[in-house]
Amino acid sequence: MSSSMSLDKITSLCKRRGFMFQSAEIYGGLNGVYDTGPLGTLLKQNIRSLWTKDTQTAKDAILFMEGSILGPQAMWVASGHVENFHDPMVDCQTCKHRYRADDINLEKPCPNCGTTAWTSVRQFNMMFSTHVGATQEQASIAYLRPETAQSIFVNFKNILSTMRIKIPFGIAQIGKAFRNEITPKQFVFRMREFEQMELEWFCHEKNTKEDFEFWVNRRFLFYKKIGIQEKNLRVRKHKKDELSHYSQYTSDIEYNFPFGWKELEGIAYRGNFDLSQHTQHSGKDLSVFDEKTQTSYIPHVVESSVGVDRIFLMLLSDAYDEDIADNEQRIVLRLSPQMAPYKAAFLPLTKKQVEPMHALYKSIQKLGIHVQFDVSGSIGKRYRRQDEIGTPVCFTYDFDSQTDYCITVRDRDTMKQERIAIDRVKEYLIKLLGIHCL
Ligand code: GAP
Repeated sequence: MSSSMSLDKITSLCKRRGFMFQSAEIYGGLNGVYDTGPLGTLLKQNIRSLWTKDTQTAKDAILFMEGSILGPQAMWVASGHVENFHDPMVDCQTCKHRYRADDINLEKPCPNCGTTAWTSVRQFNMMFSTHVGATQEQASIAYLRPETAQSIFVNFKNILSTMRIKIPFGIAQIGKAFRNEITPKQFVFRMREFEQMELEWFCHEKNTKEDFEFWVNRRFLFYKKIGIQEKNLRVRKHKKDELSHYSQYTSDIEYNFPFGWKELEGIAYRGNFDLSQHTQHSGKDLSVFDEKTQTSYIPHVVESSVGVDRIFLMLLSDAYDEDIADNEQRIVLRLSPQMAPYKAAFLPLTKKQVEPMHALYKSIQKLGIHVQFDVSGSIGKRYRRQDEIGTPVCFTYDFDSQTDYCITVRDRDTMKQERIAIDRVKEYLIKLLGIHCL
């Protein structure tokens, strides 16, 4: 992250270059909800895929599932979310501005209008509720999930019995979650509709301390592996009064966002709270049998949970830079090659070189590597466009290419150029991506 970076610059780059748009913008938008554009979609695919690969290889037995977004009321009562998933809310009686009570100092005047006329602090449940079916009665209430974790817990026995697996093992999931945040803010940092990547690690109580440490370290290392600068990462233990209703202890991995150090990911020791609650409320036994001790027990859980959108914002904040090229200011996203939406751009110098360059571009695209082809504008402008979206290299086909069978490769970060044989382009890209593989 460079000192010139600010949240406004990131937000504006996202809109200008097709990473992220305000949802339904032509109707005035929906606060806290965003649509992902073509480049953001590629970036998010890379985030999911690297997380999946890293999670899958962290331990021997990690399985993946996809749960439903809608869940019955009984499930959310059992999980404690109906009773406990609240944020404290307060209103200014003068200007009617609404705040999260833990975000502001109630001894001071309203930051919006400057008067001091607060309502009392009320608890606001953040789950979105709806009705399933034609009747709107108590029994038809369902909730959009505020975390993906619960569908893992309620499927614990299904997965245990169908996959012939033994404790310890993990179940991981990527999917949408919804929270009616009182004050969605800081672009995609706090949204009302977002995506989580969660892992529930089921283990015996005696192993929880060791497993907790393992996951904190593993997850921290993941961010280093995807190219995040270590100086912008830290681990912070939750104080007792910060813990979620299900957690006995939690550590956050925090990132130094443009607006300060904030939670990126939470690693929580959930005890056997969730499986015990679901056993009690559903009447279904969710314990496992230990052959060695010939006893049954309810497994304990270590969870790692992160938002795709928060990683997205962190990656852009960390990679954003401004420097000078050819006496002009340039914006450059120094994303690692495996995270970059496009891995390379193919740029014929003039219209005359379009055909051979297009053929080369197609041959690389067929390998499943995301690349771009761009013919319009001066070569300098085309380089700048690619720098701004983080494309690690640009290939240029010029007048000599027809006779020396070489093209120019330009490096995004150093802007240095070298000539390589056309038949080495594939090998060059595979090396570029392979070097940075997890
Ligand atoms: N299952 C545990 C759980 O949901 P959490 O700390 O409430 O714990 C986990 O959320 C992660 O989900 C956070 O660390 C953050 O990365 C992401 N997250 C939570 N609320 C979010 C929101 N409103 N917008 C974007 N991401 C959010």
